[in-house]
Amino acid sequence: MPNSRRQPNIFATVLGSMLSYALLTQAAPSTIRRDTSSGAPYQGGATYTGPSGDPAPIAQIFPNYTSQYNTATGAVDFHTSQGLVYRSITDGGADITTLVTFELSTQYSSNWCQIAFTLEDAASWATGSLQAQLFTSLAPATTDASSWPSGNLRDQDLGSIDIVVGGEASFEAGSGPAAASDGFFPCSLIAGQVYGGEIVPQGDAVETSWPAGEDGIKIVVY
Ligand SMILES: *[C@@H]1O[C@H](CO)[C@@H](O)[C@H](O)[C@H]1NC(C)=O
Repeated sequence: MPNSRRQPNIFATVLGSMLSYALLTQAAPSTIRRDTSSGAPYQGGATYTGPSGDPAPIAQIFPNYTSQYNTATGAVDFHTSQGLVYRSITDGGADITTLVTFELSTQYSSNWCQIAFTLEDAASWATGSLQAQLFTSLAPATTDASSWPSGNLRDQDLGSIDIVVGGEASFEAGSGPAAASDGFFPCSLIAGQVYGGEIVPQGDAVETSWPAGEDGIKIVVY
């Protein structure tokens, strides 16, 4: 019965295109980040304590889109199935960073959010320095690009993480505003909006990869 199998797929494809279009429309680069929210969610280097007590997380929000950026050519490989952060002493400056697009629902406006990076999936791994830097982006990636001037639109340095294979990364003390807040910030600062971020290799050589939308960078909601 080929028809009964094919129809839901066509519907899903159409729905998927509509959702992508909605996200792209909202993510129009010059309107999202530059005017009002440079460096959000840590504007002015604000520090936050996070929730009191030790509440259990209520949700984990993975990026809607994960993309790879080549720092030598400026090429963006949009909407990849894996995050990849790569630098080697022989790569001639052709580092790979991961660009992520987050859209947090307004239903979490009164919750605490926490930036976290885990390598807990069986398909996730890391070698080398096990260090990376987290940045906000001036605008999220929205399409494939082969070279500059598209660029990665790197914005504020949030801090550095020490990656833990099989567990959750910790922030390096004093490395930036997210480190000062242990990744916590009020969800209201980003709820209902589209934000871009970037994970960048740190140290002489490092390589880490994770299945997009299942592991790696995420926002944990409390
Ligand atoms: C992005 O992901 C969030 C959380 O998973 C979801 O609520 C939202 O609807 C997604 N947005 C789009 C445009 O797919």
